[in-house]
Amino acid sequence: MSRINNILKNEKYRNYLDRLMCFEKDRKFCHHDIEHFLGVARIMMIKNQEENFNIDKDVIYAIALLHDIGRVLQYEKGINHSKASAEIAKEILEKCQYSSNEIEIITSAISKHNIANDDNYINNLLKYADRISRNCFICPAFDDCNWDDLKKNKGVTL
Ligand SMILES: [Fe+2]
Ligand SMILES: [Fe+2]
Repeated sequence: MSRINNILKNEKYRNYLDRLMCFEKDRKFCHHDIEHFLGVARIMMIKNQEENFNIDKDVIYAIALLHDIGRVLQYEKGINHSKASAEIAKEILEKCQYSSNEIEIITSAISKHNIANDDNYINNLLKYADRISRNCFICPAFDDCNWDDLKKNKGVTL
């Protein structure tokens, strides 16, 4: 089985995903679910190809699938979800045949995904895909969302 599918089948991953779905069942704003994670992965894949970044597919999918998984601990204990996601990601990736170098790259991007761009193209790629993956232009909660108006997607970004 591929390493990406190892993550998807990982017991801890599934447990966090289930808990996230429960927490966000009635959430009117964007959800942090498998659709979001795969949307981010696919945008990252497209940009990776367009920009010739040559980032390994397994690394891209690991970043996208795990970047918000720690939202559970934010809901439960008020822990910053970027940091929580990076810690959970490390535990899961160690069980999914990722090397320590790959784990460092993946957890670094995840832990920094809610701060300003830096000089690392992988970190910035996640931030970009995370933002443009959201369909603000058809969102019924558009006016109540606390995203800065400039950040909200008014249409599809190409
Ligand atoms: Fe996030
Ligand atoms: Fe996200």
